[in-house]
This record gives sequence, structure tokens and C-alpha cells, in this order.
Amino acid sequence: MTQNRQIRLGAFLQATGHHIAAWLHPDAQADAGLNIGHYRELAQTAERGRFDAIFVADSPGSGYEADLATLARNGKTAKFEPVTLWAALSQVTSHVGFVATASTTYEDPYTLARKFASLDWISGGRAAWNVVTTGQDVSANFGRDRHPEHALRYERAEEFLAIVKSLWDSYEDDAFVRDRASGIYIDTDKFHQIDHAGKHFTVRGALNIGRPPQGYPVIVQAGASESGRTLAASTAEVIFTANLTLEDAQSFYADIKGRLPRFGRTPDQLLIMPGIFPVLGGTEAEAEANYEYLQSFVHEDIAWDILQKRYAGVDLSGYSLDDIAPPPPQDTNGNKSRLQLVSDYVERERPTLRQLYRTLSTARGHRTVVGTPEQVADAIQLWFENGAADGFNIMPPVLPTGLTDFVDQVVPILQRRGLFRTEYEGTTLRENLGLHRPANSHALDRTSVARESVA
Ligand SMILES: Cc1cc2nc3c(=O)[nH]c(=O)nc-3n(C[C@H](O)[C@H](O)[C@H](O)COP(=O)(O)O)c2cc1C
Repeated sequence: MTQNRQIRLGAFLQATGHHIAAWLHPDAQADAGLNIGHYRELAQTAERGRFDAIFVADSPGSGYEADLATLARNGKTAKFEPVTLWAALSQVTSHVGFVATASTTYEDPYTLARKFASLDWISGGRAAWNVVTTGQDVSANFGRDRHPEHALRYERAEEFLAIVKSLWDSYEDDAFVRDRASGIYIDTDKFHQIDHAGKHFTVRGALNIGRPPQGYPVIVQAGASESGRTLAASTAEVIFTANLTLEDAQSFYADIKGRLPRFGRTPDQLLIMPGIFPVLGGTEAEAEANYEYLQSFVHEDIAWDILQKRYAGVDLSGYSLDDIAPPPPQDTNGNKSRLQLVSDYVERERPTLRQLYRTLSTARGHRTVVGTPEQVADAIQLWFENGAADGFNIMPPVLPTGLTDFVDQVVPILQRRGLFRTEYEGTTLRENLGLHRPANSHALDRTSVARESVA
């Protein structure tokens, strides 16, 4: 019997929770960002809920150097470097996957390939890389004059990714023979050095670690501009995305899946997972009250900071929060797709600036669902069954309670409806996501050469 198509679930974690003021909520642990015990509990809760993976976003900088008043109230600044964090948590879990964000604009391909190969070995094949080009200008942290242009960042990302995959193929899967009788440790026919000289990088050499257990860690991507979609369609296996309406999510889903054949890929090789910010309550009224309580923690300085980020270069000082939001700027060198999402929202809903910041303070433009566990499960099922999603990134408003409540209250409903697993299918992240394990490109080359010489 073939199993019904199953929802994929990721837990998108921010230390105290996704709401902008989560750290002020009494359910949050104010020191969560630097509290490994807190993350251990989250990882184990996600695994108890049979989540495919847990995920942290990242940028290599605070971004608030010029704005100390906002930095002072920002509860999201202190955090662990993702690969380090996941390596530790892989030792107290056995099945949940680990998606770590790392930047192709600010990291180096060799070091990154090595780190993610290590995480894949240490976790027993549960690593994934969220490939980001970094929208935020953190150039000064790296002694650079300026943040590269959007198009250049994506061009660099493409080259970066190709190098990293070649490095992961430095050794074929069976290269480490470790034969004590002959004294041969490595079959050097199965060792491959790369010799890459491209526009952005020159890398000659090989990794000093065996091929990752998954072949390659799972490749995740989260850009949704034209260049972001092209990169995703050609290389990503999971896409994280933000959509506010079913129609937008359906159009994104159809667009991305439609691009795959151009790259010789099939729709099941790429899973699309929009974010969802669930505010739960025993009744609808209780959920609404929980939502209002969360929003009550937003300080006015933070409200203006949220708005100003979306109106870069526009002077909002003459506006009050009760004024109708003006159209956001036409373009940005940062996150183009998120600017488009906000512009579409402003045009469609004609919100006041207060309504706009309240929409963004929950999940920055991801879908917010306020309701009972049944209603949240309905909202998930609706998008899953109507061509909008293969799974979801659950964005708990406040942690740890937001994740525990979802696992205890919503997951059992999805399981009862036959939409979500009750046990893990495999031990690696690829097995659980239903993604194939990529062959080593050099081994493939050798097979085709052998075939040619026989023919
Ligand atoms: C769910 C989600 C998570 C993201 N996480 C990160 C992140 O951790 N770091 C980052 O620099 N960008 C992150 N982004 C932004 C994208 O990776 C991308 O850089 C951004 O959307 C700009 O690209 P675009 O102009 O192609 O949309 C995230 C986007 C989404 C939807």
C-alpha cells in the first residue's frame, strides 16, 4: 500500500521565540540565546514531535552597530553559531535533522565544506545547509569596503556551492579501505583533488574528511527573488519561504516546481516549506487574547525600527502610527522578495503603520494563524492540499512553550488525519525527507568512461 503524501515539518527556532518582543513574555527564558540547556530541551521536544528538522537562521553580525537605542531593546542579538550548536545537540538526539545557516557572501568554501561534512558525520547523516547570500550589510565585520550587490552575491553563491559539492566528493564513499594487512588506509584511485579557478574563487586541493554520510548534507535555500528562485531550482532540495496568502503561496509553489525540468529535475526533488507562526488557545477567544498579550510587549522604538527596516531610505519622521502606510521603496540591495511581500500587503490591505508593524512583529511577513489546535491544523492542511506547500516551518511565538504546545496539541491532530508520521522512516535527514542520496560526481564520471570504453 502506498503511503499518503506526508507533511514535512521543520521547527524554525529563535532563542526566545519568533515574536519580536518574545523575550519579555513571562513564558520565555530571557537568557535563552546563550543557554544550551534550553536548546537541548527544544531539540528533544522537536524529536518527540517527529519533526523532520530544526532550523536556525543566521547572519554573521549584529547589524545594530549604528543604532544603540534599538540594540538595547533587541532580545535576539545573542546567539550561538549554528554548526557548533547543532554539533552539540546531535549528541542528545537520534533522528531529528539540523539545518544550519551559513553565508556564501561572507564564508570561505573550503572551511564551510569541512564544517558541514563534520556536522554530517557527527550527527550520523542529519545535517543540512541553509545557503544564504546574506541580505544584511555586515561587510565591516570582515574588513570589506561594502556589501556586494544582490546579483553579484547570487553569482558568487552559485560558484561557492559548486566548489563545496566538489570538495564533498574529495573521497568516494568507499575510499577509506583501512586494510591493516596491506597497510593501505586510502584507495587513492578514489581520491580526487579539485582544481578550480573561477571568477570569485581559486581552490586547489581536497578535503581532509570522508564523504559525508548523506553524500551531501541536504541543500536548503530561502531566497525568492528571480536570482534566488533560479539558484533554488537548480540546486536546492528544500526551500524555506514566506507567504501571507494562499494565492501567493500557490503561485510561488507552481513557479518553482515549473522551473525544475529546465535543470533536469523532478518536482519531488525539491520540497517547498513556507513559514507559519501559530498562536494557540483553547478557544478562539483565548487564542486572540494570547495574540494581543504578545503584541502588548512591543516598545514603540522597536515598532519604528520594524517599519524603518522596510522603508530604508524613506524618512518616516513626519508620520504617526495611525497614518496609512505609504508605498515601500521600489527596490533594495537586501531581501528583495520580502520587500515585494510587504509592498503587496500595503497595496492590498491599505494598513495603517500600526497595523503594518503588528503584522511584521509576529513573524516578519510569514503567515500568522491565531486559533485553536484544530484551526491551526486546518490552516496547515489547507495549504498542503491545495498546491501551496510540501511542508511547513513552524515558527513558535515564544519558546519553549510555543513548541511544546504545538507538539502536544497540533501534531496529534495531523497524525490522526494521516497527514504526518508517527515514527521516523529512517535515520538520516535525507531518508526522512524522502530525498535521494547523491552519487559522487567522480564515481559517476568513471562509470560513464567505463561504459564508453566498453561500447
Ligand atoms: C524562512 C527564511 C529564512 C531565512 N533565513 C535567513 C538567514 O538565516 N540568513 C540570511 O542572511 N537570510 C535568510 N533568509 C533570507 C534569504 O536567504 C535571502 O537572502 C533573502 O530572501 C534575499 O534573497 P532574495 O532577494 O532572493 O529574496 C531567510 C529567508 C526565509 C524565507
